Amino acid sequence: MSTTLENLKVAFAGEAQANRRYLAFARKAEEEGYPHIARLFRAVAAAETVHANNHLKAMGGLRSTADNLQAAIAGEEYEVNGMYPPMLSEAEESGEKQAARAFRWALEVEKIHAVLYRQAAESLAQGQDIAEAEYYICPICGYTHVGAMAGKCPVCGYPAERFEKVV
Ligand code: FE2
Ligand code: FE2
Ligand code: FE2
Repeated sequence: MSTTLENLKVAFAGEAQANRRYLAFARKAEEEGYPHIARLFRAVAAAETVHANNHLKAMGGLRSTADNLQAAIAGEEYEVNGMYPPMLSEAEESGEKQAARAFRWALEVEKIHAVLYRQAAESLAQGQDIAEAEYYICPICGYTHVGAMAGKCPVCGYPAERFEKVV
């Protein structure tokens, strides 16, 4: 792999990570009563997204939706089958409870993502978009549900009425 391609991957990961970190910092600043610092974090986070997108394009990481779905499926399945199981085992063995829970929740939810993406890829292979749907996300574990639901999150037990609707 060329040095530039390697650098783009590292830069994309770093910028994407900075975006999410700053958005989390913004929520924390809001909680602590600093709405203007929160906005600064959101502004810089938005700029990091621009950088991340530029790096992604430069590395050829944005192709057709059919190709992007295959990349998305591969990513989710890698997390389910390759990445999270050993991470979860290690965290459980070393008594890192919070990390183990974070890995377990992610592992369970990535399985659902892989299924949703596979369904979309199958639909697209027939030349069709998927059916219009609303999506609800558990703010605790990331559980991803098609349509509104009642009861409790099947992954973490959080009340489903507090799921966040994706706009
Ligand atoms: Fe940046
Ligand atoms: Fe996922
Ligand atoms: Fe949940």
